[in-house]
Amino acid sequence: MKSYNVGIIGATGMVGQRFALLLANHPWFHVVKLAASSRSAGKTYEEAVGSRWLMAEPMPEQYKSMTVYDAAEVEKVADGLDLVFCAVDIKEKPVLIELEEAYAKCEVALISNNSALRGKPDVPMLIPEINPEHCDVIPTQRARLGTRRGFTAVKPNCSLQTYVPALHPLRDFGVTKMLACTYQAISGAGKNFTTWPEMVDNVIPYIGGEEEKSEREPMKIWGKIEGGVIVPAVTPAITTQCLRVPVTDGHMAAVFASFERKPSLDEIRARWESFIAEPQKLNLPSAPRKFLYYFDDPTYPQTKLHRSLENGMAVSIGRLREDSQYDIKFICLSHNTLRGAAGGGVEAAELLAAKGYLD
Ligand SMILES: NC(=O)c1ccc[n+]([C@@H]2O[C@H](COP(=O)([O-])OP(=O)(O)OC[C@H]3O[C@@H](n4cnc5c(N)ncnc54)[C@H](OP(=O)(O)O)[C@@H]3O)[C@@H](O)[C@H]2O)c1
Repeated sequence: MKSYNVGIIGATGMVGQRFALLLANHPWFHVVKLAASSRSAGKTYEEAVGSRWLMAEPMPEQYKSMTVYDAAEVEKVADGLDLVFCAVDIKEKPVLIELEEAYAKCEVALISNNSALRGKPDVPMLIPEINPEHCDVIPTQRARLGTRRGFTAVKPNCSLQTYVPALHPLRDFGVTKMLACTYQAISGAGKNFTTWPEMVDNVIPYIGGEEEKSEREPMKIWGKIEGGVIVPAVTPAITTQCLRVPVTDGHMAAVFASFERKPSLDEIRARWESFIAEPQKLNLPSAPRKFLYYFDDPTYPQTKLHRSLENGMAVSIGRLREDSQYDIKFICLSHNTLRGAAGGGVEAAELLAAKGYLD
């Protein structure tokens, strides 16, 4: 049985809380350290979080009396850890990169929810069902950082974890272009209706930086390894619009796509229904039994009904049909803080563990 000592940095925030819940009874990962900003350092986790606990489930007992570390005291936090999940919210990119790489240089593996390292060609940006082979750039990164064991890996933005999984099994039909409009939950901004009352009965047609990430990151995910680094794909051409909608959890996307060789709707549905990837073959603890679900009911997928499918790790798809401007159109949905954030991070760590990168 695999067993690793794990820390969560940014443990007091929304994504950190989600990590804490997901890892409370994990078969391989044992949370032994929690860290956040200097504001929380020295307090118990229960005191530091105070009234900010945002999860529907109660705070697990095992964390309540743990003392929160200052994430900036890297050597102190990293001591004795194999793996760190990073969910700190630091806006200055260079500061964040320095902090995340400092953990790697302490010979710890760091899995980040942040975007700062996503552009580096030797940092894998993992959706375990889609690009598990990108783990193979880690030796290049270790050589750059001068580490033996430490490295960083990232998970991509939550918005694209709706349409990239759905289009992935269709890539060999030659996806030439796609358009997606995303309808994104308020938990994606670390908020709920109490902390963001302006979102009740409202839609905001702007999420800073989201469209750029939604268009750029799929190209790295679909990229190939050449010379030890990831070279981004050049197709499909992607355009997006990202809207914030009054929903607690679950991002939905309305997607249009065209192909070099247009498949039939039956072929597409068959590809989705039969899609099995490495996490399913490896039986990773957080992997959904089935990644993609297609629903024939034209009123599906629905946010409340389907976001928690397979513990929030599956992607739901519906309304596949021909389009007059593109070849096809469909709707898809995924849970933004589970598949799109902490759950995806934990599954990525499991993949890295299974491939021996944490040993
Ligand atoms: N919410 C989502 O669904 C989602 C999805 C994907 C990615 N993300 C990204 O994940 C990160 C965390 O998001 P969140 O929604 O969980 O934010 P959040 O609720 O505001 O939590 C931020 C966390 O970062 C800590 N922190 C802030 N400044 C720090 C500093 N200078 N040094 C160390 N720790 C610091 C906070 O600690 P204190 O409590 O001590 O202040 C807290 O633990 C963000 O970068 C966000 O963009 C979020």
